[in-house]
Amino acid sequence: MTREEAKERIEKLRRIIDYHRALYHSFDSPEISDAVFDTLKNELEELEYEYPDLVTPDSPTQKIGGRPLDKFKKVAHEEPMLSLNDAFSAREMEEWRDRVENYISGRGKTLYGASFYCELKIDGLAIELVYENGVLIRGSTRGDGIFGEDITQNMLTITDVPKKLDCFGRLEVPSRLVARGEIFIAKKEFTRINKEQKRDGLKEYANPRNLAAGSVRQLDSRVTAGRKLKSFQYDISMIYPKVVFKTHEEEHKALASWGFTVNPENRRVDSLEKACEFRDEWENSRGRLTYEVDGIVVFINENDIFEIAGVVGKAPRGGIAYKFSPREATAVVQNIKIQVGRTGVLTPVAELSPVQVSGVTISRATLHNEDEIRRLGLKIGDTVIVTRAGDVIPKITKVITELRTGKEKNFIMPARCPIDNSKVKRDGVLSKCSNPKCGARHRESLYHVVSRGAFDIRGLGRKIMDKFLDEGLISDAADIFSLSEGDIEVLDRLGKKSAENIVSEIKSKKKTTLARFIFGLGILHIGEETAADLARIASDGRKKIRIPSEVGEFFAAYSTDDFEKINDIGPKIAESLREWFGRKENIALLSRFDKAGVEFEAPKQTGKKLEGKTFVLTGVLKTLDREEAKEKIRTLGGDTSETVSKKTSFVVAGESPGSKKAKAERLGVKTINESEFLRMLSE
Ligand code: IVH
Repeated sequence: MTREEAKERIEKLRRIIDYHRALYHSFDSPEISDAVFDTLKNELEELEYEYPDLVTPDSPTQKIGGRPLDKFKKVAHEEPMLSLNDAFSAREMEEWRDRVENYISGRGKTLYGASFYCELKIDGLAIELVYENGVLIRGSTRGDGIFGEDITQNMLTITDVPKKLDCFGRLEVPSRLVARGEIFIAKKEFTRINKEQKRDGLKEYANPRNLAAGSVRQLDSRVTAGRKLKSFQYDISMIYPKVVFKTHEEEHKALASWGFTVNPENRRVDSLEKACEFRDEWENSRGRLTYEVDGIVVFINENDIFEIAGVVGKAPRGGIAYKFSPREATAVVQNIKIQVGRTGVLTPVAELSPVQVSGVTISRATLHNEDEIRRLGLKIGDTVIVTRAGDVIPKITKVITELRTGKEKNFIMPARCPIDNSKVKRDGVLSKCSNPKCGARHRESLYHVVSRGAFDIRGLGRKIMDKFLDEGLISDAADIFSLSEGDIEVLDRLGKKSAENIVSEIKSKKKTTLARFIFGLGILHIGEETAADLARIASDGRKKIRIPSEVGEFFAAYSTDDFEKINDIGPKIAESLREWFGRKENIALLSRFDKAGVEFEAPKQTGKKLEGKTFVLTGVLKTLDREEAKEKIRTLGGDTSETVSKKTSFVVAGESPGSKKAKAERLGVKTINESEFLRMLSE
């Protein structure tokens, strides 16, 4: 992205974030989920980090969201109500710890030996409660952090909000106390109220937080009272007479001792690793809570360190929200590719900028058919919302048209099949290749790419390849090399572990030999031996061939006559090669292999002692498999062939040799056994 493009994107992101933030904080009627809001905000933060001179004071990254509404009396908070920065991975949590350590070490403190206080991050809205001589005198929302809305009347209707403080513990009830916490609504209550809204023809609430927010902002307190709101308190922002709480944990205990409801799940841990574990455990078991949580909040438990760490921007440096993986996120549609199914149906598949959804990185989403693209109004280059519910393939649910630059391109279903160039015909909503054999043949060619003699990708059997194809994860051979763990993990019954194994196996095979690569291309009539001959010729050329597109450049200059000059290549093979290297789709495929990171090992020519010798293998060898034996012969400068002829130097006969041995005897070609062969290799 150029600086100019970044500037334009930053401005658009600010506008859209401000708009949604106002809907969220002030009007309680969001149009997008928190997760999508978070991805937009993150993108803005990252761009501003990259271009710090483009940061402006009015950027949403510099302001606390929300604006008090006029319908309530405004109240000034004694201390600003801050917010928290977000982290989305254990690495970001470590970075946070390092930043804090860095900052406090210059001020005589260290995190060494410190503990962390972990709390569930409730999906509700923050409130402030002011008590004088133990009596609740005011309740307010956060508003813009400086001024909130006075919602005292409504707070009086909530059972968890004490109207009068008790003294269950050692601590006296203070003469003045400002406590902060969260108002929320249970999941069940959310469902019940939404049912009623629907029945009464009223607008349903988007999520429990929204409903809670809408309920405390009612002018008629009877409505609030009817909604069974709940509350946890989690912070003491001011206390008089002053009490020194050594830790955040002690503050929670004090709140409980005065009769506030504190969350029983909150816990002190003695390392950041344990805090991350706390988050991971709750990410998996949040279903058993009666209310929604969207992550955890982690504070440095020792208050002296927390104080010294101070405030950065709008958030305390000593605290952070470690969010659960979003189930939705935004991504950019970089391209729309066509996947040809077994029956020849053409399915458009969106290639996305990699994005985390439900804990996995995904880079593709199926678009089903042309009508779906039209329904979404999707163009190539659009920023979209990607959703994944449970173990299903991600879907694009919405286009964020506000982020368009004007450079987006319309998608047009090709008139010709991208695989075999046959005409594409419509069949209802579906587009199909008119060649009935095309889809099945394409599938075979992809099975071939990963087979033993080609890329030799273990674990990618036909069944898995079929899944990849059916779900639109791959549409050509190069796609195999850009699959991410997330793309695979979401497939039915393929868990995290197998996804990791597959991706690491694919990665390890990106570096291959030129011979295997050419064989893998599946060019008509090109077997392993011819592929090896072509590879040898290409590597003998002046320019070293290192990446797939260079193979195309090298053979593009070859005529059928040139091909025929190569050992064992007759007119049929030469024609097939000429045709393959002459097609622009194939040349484009080679470039896609480059992009996916496929490259060639330097040829392992360790000697030339078998130069000029041609070997034919027959029967089963005990110590080597066939591929290994052939590779060894080639490494030593020899050649291999499938057919015995007068030109054959040796037939290597393993156990139960086939007719090739007999043919060798007839033609007077020398036959050697496995140990003679091994000696020949090692001498
Ligand atoms: S502590 C400096 N604890 O998350 C703010 N916040 O992004 C300290 N939240 O505005 C807040 N559960 O509305 C804290 N257990 C919890 C929370 C919690 C939910 C909300 C709160 C806050 C936002 C921070």
